[in-house]
Amino acid sequence: MEPVVRLRGVSKEFPGVVAVDGVDLDILPGEVHVVAGENGAGKSTLMKLLSQVERPTSGEIYISGERVEFHGPGHARRLGVAMVYQEFALAPHLSVAENLFLGREPGRGGFVNRRAEKEEARGLLRRVGLEVDPDRLVSSLTVAEQQRVEIAKALAIDARVVIMDEPTATLAEKEIEELFEVIRDLTSHGRAVLYISHRLDEIFRIADRVTVMRDGKVVATLPVEELDEAKLVRLMVGREIGNLYPKPEAEIGEVLLRVRGLSRGERLKDCSFEVRAGEILGFAGLVGAGRTELARAVFGADPVDSGEIELEGRPLRIRKPQDAIEAGIGYLTEDRKGEGLALQLGIDQNITLASLPARLGFIGLGRERSIAERRREQLNIRTPSVRRKVQVLSGGNQQKVVVARWLETRARVLFFDEPARGIDVGAKAEMFALIGELAREGRGIVLISSYLPELINMCDRILVMRDGRVAGVLEREEFSEEGIIALATGVKETV
Ligand SMILES: Nc1ncnc2c1ncn2[C@@H]1O[C@H](COP(=O)(O)OP(=O)(O)OP(=O)(O)O)[C@@H](O)[C@H]1O
Ligand SMILES: [Mg+2]
Repeated sequence: MEPVVRLRGVSKEFPGVVAVDGVDLDILPGEVHVVAGENGAGKSTLMKLLSQVERPTSGEIYISGERVEFHGPGHARRLGVAMVYQEFALAPHLSVAENLFLGREPGRGGFVNRRAEKEEARGLLRRVGLEVDPDRLVSSLTVAEQQRVEIAKALAIDARVVIMDEPTATLAEKEIEELFEVIRDLTSHGRAVLYISHRLDEIFRIADRVTVMRDGKVVATLPVEELDEAKLVRLMVGREIGNLYPKPEAEIGEVLLRVRGLSRGERLKDCSFEVRAGEILGFAGLVGAGRTELARAVFGADPVDSGEIELEGRPLRIRKPQDAIEAGIGYLTEDRKGEGLALQLGIDQNITLASLPARLGFIGLGRERSIAERRREQLNIRTPSVRRKVQVLSGGNQQKVVVARWLETRARVLFFDEPARGIDVGAKAEMFALIGELAREGRGIVLISSYLPELINMCDRILVMRDGRVAGVLEREEFSEEGIIALATGVKETV
């Protein structure tokens, strides 16, 4: 079978970094080809070379046997390479139909036949399982729906290769299953799907073949049948990872944070909980159950209708995040791009950003750098220099910068919202070891996660939310996936 895409000796250098290093790769029609590897391994960059967002430093790219020259993203699209971005590239204030045909040349005489376009749009949307009016504005769609529009866009140009960079990072389980159906439909029509993911469970569900990258190079390309989790992890990080979730033996002390009767419209109803020093409290629940809302309410990011918050016995009046930060409450958002980082500033500046109360107040430049250096070491942030702008870091490494920043504060209670999302297995183990370390220092930790093994291994207690309420709190000896799911869905366990 002739590959749809063939890469030969493809490299991409950025100042100080060889992001992609002499890659040879064949992508076959009709396959789901997963690209895996640690943060900063070069996965996203490789996809940008293929979709001509970046120009290769050297090497050859063939599409359907033809050598292609670099002419930018429009050219790649015309050759049948479509990219579904990690952050979507749709125009929010245009309609779904307009987005689908954006950049397409009008028909003869310069006219666009709106009616025909709308009909065509309906057909494309149906094929990706989306029942929305093509006249709706993209901004009114959910994230999962917008992603579907992106895929429909790939169908609109009759793409031969559809690239998806961590497409499930922001999806709920049901939406993931739907996305997989769309992917299977694409491949059954002979299209190739190139799929970047950090989630091992997902890789084994969807991949036909897996290519592992490390430090810009391809380590191996294997059919998924020849892999198991342990082998895949070993290929990615080049070593064994013993324990993914090192549970700390922390001493559990006094109540640090006490939240009583927190309510906010329909989203939060009378929520109460406590976090003790040294404790890791999990928040479980379905997407939309109110876990993030509860964290945001405590942190002062959203106004509340009623409720009380106490830290170490002192009642707090939190009206905005700055109040929470000053009182000693930290929140690592799930949306690192939106809220977490100043992309234009250096890694060092982001870590010691002045909006947070630093340990010593004013921090001089040299000190800023040495703090950042230490965190880079500890969290294994991949960059040639901490002076670099955060913008040029890979997705997972940006996540680590957010964590580093919170570690520099005196926060007594830290909320981690999906901290493992988008980071590689090795870093995940490091991240959880670090969370355990923070608990051992006597801080109180709230861990929000949709992945039950994470919660079950790491937490001392798990609070389960359903429809904006606390459905129950489980002690460690009561932990089970079934028990949590039963509380989260409201469906009684069948004995
Ligand atoms: N525009 C850029 N300028 C400088 N360096 C860059 C640029 N884009 C990427 N890099 C560097 O290239 C390397 C590979 O980054 P890339 O984004 O491809 O990694 P990745 O495998 O997608 O990682 P992740 O899993 O974290 O998303 C990283 O060291 C990154 O900092
Ligand atoms: Mg990436």
